[in-house]
Amino acid sequence: MLRVIIINGPNLNLLGRREPEIYGEDTFEDFMIHLKGKFVEDDVTLEYFQSNHEGHLLDKLHEVGFDYDGIILNAGALTHTSIAIADAIAGIETPVIEVHISNVHKREAFRHHSYVSPVAEGVIVGFGLRGYELAVAYFL
Ligand code: DQA
Repeated sequence: MLRVIIINGPNLNLLGRREPEIYGEDTFEDFMIHLKGKFVEDDVTLEYFQSNHEGHLLDKLHEVGFDYDGIILNAGALTHTSIAIADAIAGIETPVIEVHISNVHKREAFRHHSYVSPVAEGVIVGFGLRGYELAVAYFL
């Protein structure tokens, strides 16, 4: 049984209400039901964790990063600022796929740099919530 966790960072609890023209109208809780349904026949368990606090994200990465088979991480704006998250990913064993809902390269220049990308196994950007599904498919 493959164990995969989705970790979402700051402001992603507001999905569905936050800038829907960029991030869509689905809440992540509704999307998780859809996602679990897609992989119901597969040998995978999917968990979800969200926090607006950098330290809590670090604690979660440390907690799962030696046992789980895959981490799907959307660090939100911390992607562009957090050396601590990059160091945590470098320090754990579980591979991390970086996901962004929007195409950050089409947006402001400050979103073009990611501290996560150099330590991620791969990056999925700009496919909306489907990016998470593609990441699960990769781990499978
Ligand atoms: C985001 C892109 C980031 O630049 C932004 O700060 C977010 C969401 C995305 O999923 O498109 O919070 O990570």
